Amino acid sequence: GKGNFRHFMEKELHENPAIIGDTLNRMIDPATRLPVLPDLAVDLAAIPRISLSACGSAYYAGLTARYWLEEIARIAVDADVASEFRYREPPLDPAGLGLVISQSGETADTMAALRYMKRQGCKVMSVVNVPESTMARESDLMLETIAGPEISVASTKAFTAQLAVLAGFTLALARARGARSDAEIAPLVAALMELPGKMAQLLADDTEIRALAEDIRDARDVLFFGRGSMMPIALEGALKLKELSYIHAEGYPAGEMKHGPIALIDPSVPVIAVLPSGPLFEKTASNLQEAAARGGRIILFSDKAGAARLAGIANRTIIITECDPFVAPILYAIPVQLLAYHVAVLKGTDVDQPRNLAKSVTVE
Ligand code: M6R
Repeated sequence: GKGNFRHFMEKELHENPAIIGDTLNRMIDPATRLPVLPDLAVDLAAIPRISLSACGSAYYAGLTARYWLEEIARIAVDADVASEFRYREPPLDPAGLGLVISQSGETADTMAALRYMKRQGCKVMSVVNVPESTMARESDLMLETIAGPEISVASTKAFTAQLAVLAGFTLALARARGARSDAEIAPLVAALMELPGKMAQLLADDTEIRALAEDIRDARDVLFFGRGSMMPIALEGALKLKELSYIHAEGYPAGEMKHGPIALIDPSVPVIAVLPSGPLFEKTASNLQEAAARGGRIILFSDKAGAARLAGIANRTIIITECDPFVAPILYAIPVQLLAYHVAVLKGTDVDQPRNLAKSVTVE
């Protein structure tokens, strides 16, 4: 049941701290406090590249992982939505690893991507939430997200659990490949382990997010901007707002704004930036300044330092607890999903069963 919550989506969002803790514990060796690489018939340390494919939010988890895997594990990654990947006929290196990500483990296009990878001679790893699923059975290796059943059509806890698994995998692979020393990995593990506490703190008080939901409930269009590993969280925020509240929303890499989307900006279009302090902060801040100069209504999701830096241009700021930039996509996923949730509640849409959508898309 829903317990004390009005909707499954809200309940599932609140399960995040426990789930992320369980999911991470499976990947970290309690003795060494370091992530361990799962056993596979191939030497994962030797794979030359990774091709990943998924749909919807699971694809955005994969896109985030691409940033981590390339930067931290120093491995080449390509990523595409499964409905395109399966017909693109990409030539795959049989020594490479295929990676599919799916909550249900039954999504038809992702399943076809998995089978294509195998036909090309690759070993395939799946990140799935249902260990009895077809994808789990057909892949060579399964990494399980320990999210429990997800009822809400909008993916929440399964998405953050996918991110947690992929973050742990990145660190394990970085060690195995010798891309990072244990001394470099340890603080990243610590940052992951702090997530459940930070998530609980964030979920304990959503007053500011509710107020923001009031602000944007009547918007016709909303833009989400992010850069680097936060860019897929901008895409996720836009997808959730679309599917739950039926407001048109687009996510963009902030640096692309001047190549088109800036033409949309006027005071009626909220511009939401997911922008924690970190390496790309200043670059993104100047993108936002350009939007503000054109009358854009800037809404900032950032930490205290980021909020102070952009106090002059932000119309509203949602303050998120400080965290290591590595784990920021996992933490910031929650407030953007909560925002979509509260807008949907205000608009009175069917939160757990949005129109036209199915939980598991088992046909092409
Ligand atoms: O079961 P899967 O993870 O393979 O499903 C993929 C997408 O259909 C799913 O993430 C969809 O985009 C959600 N409705 C997003 O909230």
